[in-house]
Amino acid sequence: MKKSLIAGNWKMYKTPKESVEFAKELVKNTGFHDDRDILICPPFTSLLQVSEVVSGTALKLGAQNVCFEDEGAFTGEISTGMLKETGVEYIICGHSERRNIFGETNFVVNKKVRKTAEAGINPILCVGEKLEERESGKAFEVISSQVRESLEGFKQPEMIVVAYEPVWAIGTGKTATPEQAEEVHAFIRNLLAELFDKNLSESIIILYGGSVKPDNIDSIMLQKNIDGVLVGGASLKVDSFTRIIDYKA
Ligand code: PGA
Repeated sequence: MKKSLIAGNWKMYKTPKESVEFAKELVKNTGFHDDRDILICPPFTSLLQVSEVVSGTALKLGAQNVCFEDEGAFTGEISTGMLKETGVEYIICGHSERRNIFGETNFVVNKKVRKTAEAGINPILCVGEKLEERESGKAFEVISSQVRESLEGFKQPEMIVVAYEPVWAIGTGKTATPEQAEEVHAFIRNLLAELFDKNLSESIIILYGGSVKPDNIDSIMLQKNIDGVLVGGASLKVDSFTRIIDYKA
């Protein structure tokens, strides 16, 4: 059976000390599940210490970004090798904040996705349209180029996770309706079937992200093509993230 994935993206919140305290609380509240995996993605500076806290527990560890080179004169960057040693199993690639604030293009995201999978780490490829793109009827066109260009020449589709995060829904309190999200997820799954193969596309996890909260998680997870969520704000508090983890299937 395909397991769902409930992922928390902490963004630039929590110092190492705060991260450890939070992870310990979360561990106390989170048991193993047969039908869902749970992932937290703290800032780089917290990874090593949080890794010790979550080791052997139901919580998996992920990073929020990575460099597309192995090593070298790349001031301020972090490689897959460095991340691998901290115990991460996932890396978020091409989050909309990376794309829109730090100028990452599909070309750059493609290199990150490949590097990540080559290192034996699962890339979480983020895609999603901006408000003006949705309003001008371009959402599907934008998502299609993001998926195609970010995965061009990618040879390890069994490792990929895709996250659909409409930019207008991130941190705004506006969520796509479950039906709106489902429509895009089905579209992405068809694209993946075209790029790789039909059976494989069925097994790829497609997450929804954008203002996921305790009060909308159950209806989001009811959708056929939604296999999990990528949660920002609501993953920063133990009670709200625990309620999201405990969504009713
Ligand atoms: P949000 O962020 O849940 O705070 O909207 C989601 C994300 O950016 O991954």
